[in-house]
Amino acid sequence: MIDLSTSYLGLTLKNPLVVSASPLNEKLDNLKLMEEKGAAAIVLHSLFEEQLTLESIELDTRLTQGTESYAEAITYLPDLNHYNLGPENYLEYIQKAKKTLNIPLIASLNGTSEGTWVKYAKQIEDAGADALELNIYYLPTHFDNTGEMVEKNYIDLIKSVRSNTKFPLSVKVGPYFSSMGNMAKKIEAAGANGLVLFNRFYQPDFDIENLEVVPNLNLSRSESLRLRLRWVAILYNNIKADLAITGGIHSHVDVLKAMMAGAKVAMMASVLFEKGIPYLESMLNDLVTWMEEHEYQSIQQMQGSMSQKSVKEPERFERANYVRVLSSYLL
Ligand SMILES: Cc1cc2nc3c(=O)[nH]c(=O)nc-3n(C[C@H](O)[C@H](O)[C@H](O)COP(=O)(O)O)c2cc1C
Repeated sequence: MIDLSTSYLGLTLKNPLVVSASPLNEKLDNLKLMEEKGAAAIVLHSLFEEQLTLESIELDTRLTQGTESYAEAITYLPDLNHYNLGPENYLEYIQKAKKTLNIPLIASLNGTSEGTWVKYAKQIEDAGADALELNIYYLPTHFDNTGEMVEKNYIDLIKSVRSNTKFPLSVKVGPYFSSMGNMAKKIEAAGANGLVLFNRFYQPDFDIENLEVVPNLNLSRSESLRLRLRWVAILYNNIKADLAITGGIHSHVDVLKAMMAGAKVAMMASVLFEKGIPYLESMLNDLVTWMEEHEYQSIQQMQGSMSQKSVKEPERFERANYVRVLSSYLL
């Protein structure tokens, strides 16, 4: 009998398949189906800083009558309550889901800066979530902000959430740091138990007929996985925080690659939009079949087997591979 179990954020999971945050997770029936088809844990759709801040601004505006100082922010923001039901309902949803599910439930807070909204982390903990994923989705566009200031912003936010809560905390970030390894260490030192790599930043397109910027969100392909594999393979064994991969997990082969790089879990969203939630079951079956054929006894046995833990100088290693791959293209 193959042992598919893995541990993530101090939770023992029956296998490494975790559902990533997305609107699919807004429906209790979907959560039940995910569990039934084999998901080992679920990350709920996010509650956004803007929602929480707006709620207190709206309250404040009602109290102080006619304050328009945040009018611009309000215009930019879509009505998120259709996406995730709003803060109070989010907490209720956690409670309901916890009563219904046997697998761990990881809530998600999505923001960029410290503020009173962080108090919701504590409420999420009190509502019964098993852990919290803090998604710091931030694109720095202020030209006076240095990299150091941007990084400090991340760290202050993580510390603030950490100091308000006791349950396990993972942090989901993008790949755009000058020194990812150093940043990973800082995130860990700020109190994160896990690192979720990487956010997929949506990339707007131009409509050249109407001269409009078109926000769009393409579902990922397996190719997105490579960036994650590289960084998990480099970070493995160098930080204690658990590593999770999100982005580009589309098959059992992708899950195997994620494990071999050193991830504790493989998270997925796009593939479930594309192929439906029941696809989890066939991924799991294919995973077991592959492991049997290759005589693996457990997931833990393969975790980190393709990492760079024995590469003494990752920078030289990366540079050598870069040169090799370019020169292999000679015609
Ligand atoms: C429609 C959609 C909505 C998403 N909403 C959230 C969200 O609320 N919070 C979050 O942290 N990530 C969100 N994500 C990102 C996913 O959780 C995931 O990290 C990303 O899509 C990469 O994984 P994938 O390649 O398996 O799709 C969303 C993704 C999609 C496609």
